[in-house]
Amino acid sequence: MKILLLGKNGQVGWELQRSLAPLGELVALDRHSTEADGGCGDLSNPQGLRDTVQRLRPTVIVNAAAHTAVDKAESEKALAHTINAEAPGVLSAAARDVGALLVHYSTDYVFDGSGATPWREDVATGPLSVYGQTKLAGEQAIAASGARHLIFRTSWVYAARGGNFAKTILRLAQERDRLTVIDDQHGAPTGADLIADVTAHAIRQALRDPATQGTYHLSAAGETHWNGYARFVIDTARQLKPTLAIKAQEVAPVPTSAFPTPARRPLNSRLDTTRLRDTFGLALPDWRVGVRRMLTEIL
Ligand SMILES: NC(=O)c1ccc[n+]([C@@H]2O[C@H](COP(=O)([O-])OP(=O)(O)OC[C@H]3O[C@@H](n4cnc5c(N)ncnc54)[C@H](OP(=O)(O)O)[C@@H]3O)[C@@H](O)[C@H]2O)c1
Repeated sequence: MKILLLGKNGQVGWELQRSLAPLGELVALDRHSTEADGGCGDLSNPQGLRDTVQRLRPTVIVNAAAHTAVDKAESEKALAHTINAEAPGVLSAAARDVGALLVHYSTDYVFDGSGATPWREDVATGPLSVYGQTKLAGEQAIAASGARHLIFRTSWVYAARGGNFAKTILRLAQERDRLTVIDDQHGAPTGADLIADVTAHAIRQALRDPATQGTYHLSAAGETHWNGYARFVIDTARQLKPTLAIKAQEVAPVPTSAFPTPARRPLNSRLDTTRLRDTFGLALPDWRVGVRRMLTEIL
């Protein structure tokens, strides 16, 4: 089997390079890739993407690339639309034409964040931001294409590689006596490694049973808010590395309104993962398991 991976150097893309490797021949591209690397991986180049898919004729296309700068997207609407909405449409049409399965990622930001109930796949969307709107448009383009597809909506993604919220908190906790972190956005931090591993399992099943296609919510189990996440990071870091010079004695809770941002974010980002767990027979570990593992890796 041949797998085409786009966005190989993002948080999820990097982990997919590992988890997809045992499934078959992997052609992994990023936006700078050329013919010599296997093809065009630039999501702002529709013809390049079409040509690459036509030439490679992969069994599976996994798109981990996206315009993920949520605040920047407010002022880069056209670019965010090209990458998050148009490119998935191009990829799904190309996947349909060569009979490939398209795997794509979306976000809790397609919801308006109202209420406190975990969102199921079939409830109404209502994005609050350009990022959320463009990601939703990408989902809709894939669904309309007729391509076999898996769309995983995930939330609060972190990885050991690159910058992340936990690393920022650890740095601030060593610089300041008191941190203020919002406590009214609820969700589950989800490791890129977990997303990649679930993707590999799901691909195998979807290839055996085409009825498994569609949209699935994929996040770690349990829930917290950013303040709880920050506290867990600091407490765990203290346990794992007692020599770490953490100064912060307090992580004060504040509302989202204390940190105005260009993009509005949903307060309720809880995702109901029942459909994914039942369909693929998978268990999703509590969010603390993955965050602790990531901290063990980076400390
Ligand atoms: N991060 C989150 O908290 C989160 C939450 C929910 C859902 N998601 C979704 O999960 C998926 C993976 O996200 P992630 O966290 O792995 O994101 P990420 O780390 O920001 O990676 C995104 C990748 O897309 C690449 N990219 C941007 N523009 C491109 C273009 N024109 N052509 C090709 N590649 C381009 C970026 O490359 P450069 O580095 O060169 O810019 C980057 O490697 C995305 O679909 C995202 O919307 C993420």
